[in-house]
Amino acid sequence: MAQRPPTSEIETRPDLWGPFSVAGRNALVTGAAKGIGRGIADRLAEGGANVLIADIDLAAAQHVAEHLAQDEGRPVAMRVDVSSEADCEAAVQRCIEEFGSLDLLVNNAGIFPSSPVLEMSPEFFDRVLGINLRGLVFMSKAAGLQMVRQGRGGKIVNIASIDSVHPSLPGLAAYDASKGGVLSFTKNFALEMAPHHVTVNAIAPGGIATEGTSQPVTGLTKEQTDAMMAAFTQRIPMKRMGVPDDIAKVAVFLASSAADYMTGVLIVVDGGMLLS
Ligand SMILES: NC(=O)c1ccc[n+]([C@@H]2O[C@H](COP(=O)([O-])OP(=O)(O)OC[C@H]3O[C@@H](n4cnc5c(N)ncnc54)[C@H](O)[C@@H]3O)[C@@H](O)[C@H]2O)c1
Repeated sequence: MAQRPPTSEIETRPDLWGPFSVAGRNALVTGAAKGIGRGIADRLAEGGANVLIADIDLAAAQHVAEHLAQDEGRPVAMRVDVSSEADCEAAVQRCIEEFGSLDLLVNNAGIFPSSPVLEMSPEFFDRVLGINLRGLVFMSKAAGLQMVRQGRGGKIVNIASIDSVHPSLPGLAAYDASKGGVLSFTKNFALEMAPHHVTVNAIAPGGIATEGTSQPVTGLTKEQTDAMMAAFTQRIPMKRMGVPDDIAKVAVFLASSAADYMTGVLIVVDGGMLLS
C-alpha cells in the first residue's frame, strides 16, 4: 500500500521543520500498524518524535517499529485494543515507562464495516461504536489525565471522517453515528481541556487508499467493490484517492506548535469531496 508520493529532500529534514517541528515529542498513535495511522507514525518518527505504535495487530505493529527505527525518533510497538479501557490505561503507562511522558495522542484506530440498518444486529452496532467512539473517549481520558498530571499541556488529534458531517455511502449508518460522535466529543473535550493547555482537534479524511479501504465491502465481490471505488473516485474533485501521508502531514501540523491556538476544530482533508 503506497504510504506517500515521492517527497523533496526539504520535507524529510526535521531540522528545517521550524514551527512544525515535533522533535522530542512523546507520542501515542492508535491503529498505527497500517493505513493512515502508519502514515502518521512514519512522519512523527521522521520528525524526531518517539512513537508508541499501539495496535490490535502486534506483529504488524512490530514490523512498523522495525521500519521506523532508522528514523530520528524511537518507535515502540504494543498490542492495544482501544475498546478495552484497561488497554488504553496500559498504553499511556507504557509511554511513561518508555519515553518519560506523553505529549501527543493520535486517536486513529477505527473500523468501517458495512450493514444496512434494517439488517443490523445490536452486536454489530456495539462493535463499531465500541472501537470508533468509546475507544477514542477512554483513550482520551487516560491520556488527558496524564497530561493534566504533567502540567505542561499537550495535544490530542482525533481521526474523524467526512462522514462526521455528511454521509458518503449507504450501509455506513453505524460508522457515521460513531464519527459524528467523534466530532461532538472533540468539541466538548476541547472545552474541558483548554484550561489545562491541552488542545483537542480532529481531522476529517475523505477517501484514502489504505489496507482497510482495499478490502471488499461486505456483501460485494472484489469486482463490485472496485467498481464502487472507481465511481467514488470520480466524485472527488481532485480525481484521486488520498494517500495516508495526505493525512499525516496535517496531523503533524496539529501536533506541532504551529497549531498552538487551535482547539475544537475539524480540518477536512478530502480532495474537495465534501464540495461535490
Ligand atoms: N481510509 C479512509 O478512506 C478513511 C476515511 C475517513 C476516515 N478514516 C478513518 O481513519 C482511521 C484509519 O483508517 P484506515 O483506512 O487507515 O484503516 P486500516 O484498516 O487500514 O487500519 C486500521 C488500523 O487500526 C487497527 N485497529 C483496528 N481495530 C483496533 C482496535 N480495536 N484497537 C487498536 N487498533 C485497532 C488495525 O489493526 C489497523 O492497523 C479510522 O478511524 C477510519 O475510520 C479512514
